[in-house]
Amino acid sequence: METETRRSAHSVLRFENLSVRFSGRRSVVTVVRGVDLVLRPASVHALVGESGAGKTVSAKAVLGLLPRSAETGGRILYHDADLLSLSDRSLRAIRGKRITMVFQQPDKHLNPSMRIGAQVAEVLRYHNGLGRHEALLEARGLLDMVELNGREVLRAFPHELSGGMKQRVAIASAIACRPEVLIADEPTTALDASIQAQILALLDRVRHELGTAILFISHDLPLVRGFADDVSVLYAGRIVEQAASRELFECASHPYTDRLIAATPDPARRGQRLAAIPGGVPDPEEMPAGCAFAPRCPMATDLCRRELPLLRVPAGTLQRLSACHFAEDVACGSLADG
Ligand SMILES: Nc1ncnc2c1ncn2[C@@H]1O[C@H](COP(=O)(O)OP(=O)(O)OP(=O)(O)O)[C@@H](O)[C@H]1O
Ligand SMILES: [Mg+2]
Repeated sequence: METETRRSAHSVLRFENLSVRFSGRRSVVTVVRGVDLVLRPASVHALVGESGAGKTVSAKAVLGLLPRSAETGGRILYHDADLLSLSDRSLRAIRGKRITMVFQQPDKHLNPSMRIGAQVAEVLRYHNGLGRHEALLEARGLLDMVELNGREVLRAFPHELSGGMKQRVAIASAIACRPEVLIADEPTTALDASIQAQILALLDRVRHELGTAILFISHDLPLVRGFADDVSVLYAGRIVEQAASRELFECASHPYTDRLIAATPDPARRGQRLAAIPGGVPDPEEMPAGCAFAPRCPMATDLCRRELPLLRVPAGTLQRLSACHFAEDVACGSLADG
């Protein structure tokens, strides 16, 4: 499914035909379907798409955080190791150290009854075997690095900090062991617009100073446009378009991407959830036979309703991929008023 160009690209993390299914009491639903993705060292790869597209499930698959009811297929390669087939023990050595994650709600991952310093230090003690004093000293440096007052925040409890400060603490913990990969799942969605920009600037610094590659999950296209190098657009569990951010935002090759971009034209509306495309994402239990976007697509024909379009390089392009039968006919912004 990947092009040769993308296959040969140097990567720290690579999804190969990733699939995730959930088995319930009555049925099995597939929510991630054949996702291929390359995260290049020190780059930002954004995963975008509407609610339910499979962004968080894909991210959790990397870290082995899916519930037992999930069944995975394909491979997630971290260098040469397939994370999906590693033992729990091997995965624990990587998770939180080499590959880490920052979530939308920093609260969920902070212990309310423990001082911030001890929480950040704990990561260093567990993964790097530092002693208590040494770990606290390094934690203070990390808090300074994320632009908090390390000396003061070290002694604070989570409830004494604002949302933006807590997200900075989460980032400090996530970068404590200088990871190669940081997965940030909507890290700024819960924050005020001015704080969002600061957190993003911080993540950008982490990428440049530590060389950490970032898998950036977001609803916010203007934010993605300014931050990501590569973008994968996910629709109903499949990648429908994948391209360098610059190319993708210049001109989409999939009607869904085109509609997404048209739906958020104004950077002042940053932070809003994408909602302006009529219709909804299909129920994973009732996926159409052909293209999952066909019921909402102004370009759809019988072919689209019948045959699943494969991800391919559209004629006249080199590096981008689109899963549309009519990728060549998607003209920039042409569908905006459709
Ligand atoms: N534990 C679970 N059991 C069954 N289905 C699940 C489970 N977790 C997620 N799903 C389903 O998987 C699909 C993808 O969910 P996911 O959380 O990855 O979406 P998302 O793209 O992150 O959306 P959002 O933007 O709302 O965060 C959804 O249909 C969701 O209902
Ligand atoms: Mg999510």
